[in-house]
Amino acid sequence: MSTHAIAVVPGDGIGIEVIREGRLTLDTLAEVTGGAITWEFEDFPWGCQYYLDHGAMMPADALPTLEQFDAIYLGACGFPSVPDPISQREMILLIRQSFQQYANIRPVRTWPGVPSPLAAERLQGVDFICVRENSEGEYAGAGGRVHRGTDHEVALQTTVFTRTGVERVIRHAFQLAERLGRRAVTNVTKSNALQFAPVFWDEVFDEVAREYPDITTDRSLVDACAARMVRDPQTLDVLVASNLFGDILSDIGGALMGSLGVPPSANLSPGTAYPPMFEPVHGSAPDIAGQGIANPMAAIWSAAMLVDHLGHPDAAALLLDALADVTRAGTRTVDLGGTASTVEFGAAVRQALRTRAS
Ligand code: NAD
Ligand code: IPM
Ligand code: MN
Repeated sequence: MSTHAIAVVPGDGIGIEVIREGRLTLDTLAEVTGGAITWEFEDFPWGCQYYLDHGAMMPADALPTLEQFDAIYLGACGFPSVPDPISQREMILLIRQSFQQYANIRPVRTWPGVPSPLAAERLQGVDFICVRENSEGEYAGAGGRVHRGTDHEVALQTTVFTRTGVERVIRHAFQLAERLGRRAVTNVTKSNALQFAPVFWDEVFDEVAREYPDITTDRSLVDACAARMVRDPQTLDVLVASNLFGDILSDIGGALMGSLGVPPSANLSPGTAYPPMFEPVHGSAPDIAGQGIANPMAAIWSAAMLVDHLGHPDAAALLLDALADVTRAGTRTVDLGGTASTVEFGAAVRQALRTRAS
């Protein structure tokens, strides 16, 4: 029996609604897998409401507290009344960067019964993984503003690419491809127009690629890659991209799957002792928060990634199969053209788990 200590940070808006379903589903998974897994959950009510009450997104000892856990399960944060650069940089980005969660894994695949804006023949067999650099690049936080409010005001947001940072995420993409038996890694770049960082990124990619002669590679300029994701998504297998490029491409991946309510993510820090963090790709969705209609698929799929990462691949596969049972049967939330509420969808997944296990 394995006991796992999980820090649950639901966050704001629909983060709270979808994480509740994910957590209940993890409980059911533990139940149906006959005691092979035991969860020790601890809830942390951090985020924008905490900020409005306490003047900070998280308490001062948040990072050392989170560090004690085996994994973090996070919803989303963001309130219209709290400036986004504060809410994002002082919680999610702070955790990702402090814990060196440099590999952000964002899978894209088809789900039975889930409508996509793509024609069925273009979607057939789509199954790829976006590996997003998650600790530096465009998100490094380097820059500043001077001469505010004057005609000669200057704003700098400096990208930072280090050899360590670039090499480790590219190597992770190749290792992941090797481990999963995937055939190709695509280098997403912009080295045609940007002559420093992306050219350096390409050089490191080519160096690392030489260590993996059995894996084919190609180079896709990020603008062309965006078009390729829509026109020929079957040609993608594993792609590795800088922080901002990966952020943008992974939302396109979500759209291919029908909605931002679908894509999950794992923030991993291989080679360090820091805990990983699992969270939906989507945000707090203030436009639908509180209505009980958010799609919990991304949160539940993120939970499956957590289960897999903690060493239970069979249980993770069971959870994904149960999720597919539910979509195949036509149960969908409003974003996917259905009528199921957040709670009804979550309950259907738990029922499907019980049915599969019985
Ligand atoms: P968003 O992902 O919150 O919402 C974009 C659109 O997708 C909205 O129309 C929303 O209703 C819909 N949507 C998203 N998730 C859904 C779900 N599970 N089910 C059904 N529909 C869903 O992005 P946004 O509107 O650009 O940002 C809102 C806030 O969230 C901002 O404060 C932003 O900074 C923050 N944000 C946080 C995260 C995060 O916490 N990881 C990620 C993205 C955005
Ligand atoms: C994501 C989100 C975050 C990002 C924001 C909320 C900081 O968009 O996880 O994709 O840009 O990484
Ligand atoms: Mn994003």
